[in-house]
Amino acid sequence: MAKFEGKSAIVTGGGSGIGREVCLLLASKGAFVSVVDLSEEGGMETVRQIEEKGGKAIFVQADVSKVEDVKRYIEETKKAFGKIDMFFNNAGVEGAVAPIAEYPDDAFEKVININLKGAFYGLKYVIQAMLENGGGSIVNTASNAGLVGSPGVGPYAATKHGVIGLTKTATGEYADKNIRINAIAPGPTATNMMERFTKGSKEAEAAIKEGIPAKRYGTPKEVANLVVFLLGDDAEIINGAVYPIDGGLTAL
Ligand SMILES: NC(=O)c1ccc[n+]([C@@H]2O[C@H](COP(=O)([O-])OP(=O)(O)OC[C@H]3O[C@@H](n4cnc5c(N)ncnc54)[C@H](O)[C@@H]3O)[C@@H](O)[C@H]2O)c1
Repeated sequence: MAKFEGKSAIVTGGGSGIGREVCLLLASKGAFVSVVDLSEEGGMETVRQIEEKGGKAIFVQADVSKVEDVKRYIEETKKAFGKIDMFFNNAGVEGAVAPIAEYPDDAFEKVININLKGAFYGLKYVIQAMLENGGGSIVNTASNAGLVGSPGVGPYAATKHGVIGLTKTATGEYADKNIRINAIAPGPTATNMMERFTKGSKEAEAAIKEGIPAKRYGTPKEVANLVVFLLGDDAEIINGAVYPIDGGLTAL
C-alpha cells in the first residue's frame, strides 16, 4: 500500500471540484496539503474540511497563470512542509463556447494563459523543487478534449492536447531523476465546470450523458481515486501515461 503519511502535496484548483476531492483524499491518507486556488472562499473551505477531519493543510491564494504566483505557492509550501513530494497540476477553465471562426480573442488568451501557461509554469518550478529533494510525482489534468477534437471549445482542446505534450516530454526529461509525471483525461465530470458549460440546462446535460457509453458523468471522487493512485508509490513504474477516465467516451 502506498504511504502518504508525512508527505506533502500541492494541488492547484484545490478550491473546487476535482481538485478539492484530491485534497480531501490525500489529507485523509495523512498527507500535508497545500491548497492553491484563485478563489479564497473555495480554497479556505477545502482547508476547513481537511482540518475538521484532523488533517493538515494550508491555503495559498494564487493565479496559476502568473509566474510570480507560481513561485510563491511553491515557496509557501516549502516553508510550511519543508518539501514537495506530490503535485496535482490541475487548475483550469473551460473558456468560451463558440466555433473557432467566432471565438472571442480575449477568451482564447485567458484559456491559454490559465490552462497551458499555468500548467507549464507549475511543472517548471515544481520540477526544480523536486530535483532539490530527490524526486516526486506529478499528475497533470488534461481532458478527453486533450485526446480528440471538441467542437465548440477549440482553445480548451488545444490547451489540453498541450498538457499531454508537456507530460510526455517532461517524462523523457525527468523519469531518470526519480520524478514521475502522468496525465489524466477526464470526460464530463460532475463539477461546477460542467454546470457552467451546460448553463444549468437539464436538456444539455441529458444530451451529453446520452453520448457517453456509461450514460452518466464521472464523479470528482472517482477521478480523485485515480489521481491519488498515480501520485502514490503503488504507481511506481507508471511514467508519461495518459489515463482517460470518461465512462468510455474516447474509446469509440
Ligand atoms: N469537470 C469536467 O467535466 C472536466 C473534464 C475534463 C477535465 N477537467 C479539468 O479538470 C480540472 C478541474 O476542473 P473542475 O471540473 O474541478 O472545475 P471547477 O471549476 O470545479 O474547479 C476549478 C478550480 O480552479 C480554480 N482556478 C481557475 N482559474 C484559476 C487560476 N488562474 N489560478 C488558480 N486557480 C484557478 C477555480 O477557482 C476552481 O476552484 C480543470 O483543469 C478542467 O479543465 C474537467
